[in-house]
Amino acid sequence: DKAGHKHFMAKEIAEQPAVIGAAVAHYLPAGAQSVQLPGDTVDFADVERLVMVACGTAYYACLTAKYWFEQLAGLPVEVDIASEFRYREPPVTPRTTAIFVSQSGETADTLAALRYCRDKADRILSVVNVPESSIARESDLALPILAGTEIGVASTKAFTCQLSVLLMLAIKAAADRGRLGEVEVADTISALRGLPAAINLALDQGKAIRRAARRLSEARDVLFLGRGLMYPLALEGALKLKEISYIHAEAYASGELKHGPIALIDKHMPVVVFAPRDALFDKTVSNMQEVMARKGKIVLVSDDAGIAGAGDGVWSAIRMPQVHPVLSPILYAIPAQLLAYHTAVAKGTDVDQPRNLAKSVTVE
Ligand code: F6R
Repeated sequence: DKAGHKHFMAKEIAEQPAVIGAAVAHYLPAGAQSVQLPGDTVDFADVERLVMVACGTAYYACLTAKYWFEQLAGLPVEVDIASEFRYREPPVTPRTTAIFVSQSGETADTLAALRYCRDKADRILSVVNVPESSIARESDLALPILAGTEIGVASTKAFTCQLSVLLMLAIKAAADRGRLGEVEVADTISALRGLPAAINLALDQGKAIRRAARRLSEARDVLFLGRGLMYPLALEGALKLKEISYIHAEAYASGELKHGPIALIDKHMPVVVFAPRDALFDKTVSNMQEVMARKGKIVLVSDDAGIAGAGDGVWSAIRMPQVHPVLSPILYAIPAQLLAYHTAVAKGTDVDQPRNLAKSVTVE
């Protein structure tokens, strides 16, 4: 049942305020001043290192979480793609907690990576959407993301729910390790509780996003750029676009532009930039100027201050509300998903069942 939407993907994008709200309320029940995990047996105080492993979109959720765990909790994190991790046979040092992220909980490579860590890591956590899945069953603690059934092959609401749960885990780690003061924890928690409202505002930007998407639908290639927390999101935006519109898309950390990809820029190349006005914004503005000087076309996703600060010459601007900086990857996932969705709709591709892809990859 698509609940009045044209595609399951559209329905699942629209459901995000509700499901993220449910995920936040699950780990931060009303009145709670700290993150509550089931069983509450996890203490990050004596964890030395995290290893996070996943595939595809779930891998990008892990890459985002690396920034959170390192910046908020001072915890070193190694992130790997499951198919690389399992065959590389990396050393898993003592006092390592391993975290596996999977919507289906059945991805063959992720499950094999989990089994590889079984007797090596101190603790195995999983972040899953299907609580009775193999990955959930084989972990010491499975944290549900509560996204509800995801039918569209391209993951949307599962991604933002994974991010929400991982952020709450990072906040808990920061509190356990004495890295975040009470005030900061309270600030972040109240910002998280306000996230569904901010996501509703992002969903309201449909018109501007459709306009940008119509332009993207004529491109052969699209570049995505982001810095810091926006870099993994750029990777996710590029993956979404190629999966459902079949337009070739690539993502780079903005700072890498001049180390190669700038050679691709000409008047035919749209460049989608995710850049809230944060501490890294000015650096990203100079990257945008480098693109525009070569006639590349910028689609800027930013807040009011960022759009004003970027000056003239931007091809399309998509306006996001202002949120606590740690929340930006969750909020900016909405325009990333909607850009891919409307581009695919403009091209007339099969949004819910893209060619060659399966919802759950249970073979290697
Ligand atoms: C992308 C997508 C895939 C999955 C990947 C992992 O839209 O859906 O990249 O994220 O196959 O799947 P799970 O999360 O089920 O392990």
